[in-house]
Amino acid sequence: MAPRKLAAGNWKMNGTLAALDQIDQLLADLPAAGCDVLICSPATLVHPMVVRAAGKLAVGGQDCHAKASGAHTGDIAAAQLADAGASHVILGHSERRTDHAETDAQVAAKSLAAHDAGLIAVICVGETEAQRDAGETLDVIAAQLAGSIPDGATATNTVIAYEPVWAIGTGRTPTNDQIAEVHALMRDRLSARFADGADMALLYGGSVKPGNAAEIFAIPHVNGALVGGASLKAADFGPIISALS
Ligand code: G3P
Repeated sequence: MAPRKLAAGNWKMNGTLAALDQIDQLLADLPAAGCDVLICSPATLVHPMVVRAAGKLAVGGQDCHAKASGAHTGDIAAAQLADAGASHVILGHSERRTDHAETDAQVAAKSLAAHDAGLIAVICVGETEAQRDAGETLDVIAAQLAGSIPDGATATNTVIAYEPVWAIGTGRTPTNDQIAEVHALMRDRLSARFADGADMALLYGGSVKPGNAAEIFAIPHVNGALVGGASLKAADFGPIISALS
């Protein structure tokens, strides 16, 4: 089996119920996407978005706790996301790693919890600009992959997203060669560690827009994208989905 193509949106901390109109528009413009489409919404919108999407696109959360339940005010359990209709959850996004000091070990524990709840973990890795400038990118990515992906990950329950921190929300993207180099490393490491690592979907994220999507999707081992700002509007996300289809 080849990796499944996935166009994933990350709405981050954006959107209220009114934003679900964008789902209607997206579905109207894309009756037959030739790839999987996912939107990871704020927790408040997961269930309403599931209802609105009526099975035509997948809905995910943006984080979950490593524990199944308990006294963790403000957190959300993987099973609660699943109960709301989510099929995926983003884990280890650089904004979580930065804002909440999440470690690779915590990301791995959360990923296990996601798997236990039947969710697909979208595990994010990426170097900072200082790390890239210091020539540490491949070592950083290799270490994050080793530490953030739990044993038991498969091509069915796990997707990996490479998001260079310096490319997120900045309008800057790595060169095609730089993306290719990291994705080749990820494919090698995953294939060496997991029986079906060759089939795990690898996404690129960081300033993906309608204007650069096709070029990025042509890079070897790029199986889709994790899109932030350009996923908020159907008029932007639709063309990105089409470029992948
Ligand atoms: O998770 C997606 C993200 O971090 C990329 O954001 O706005 O650069 O597409 P953006």
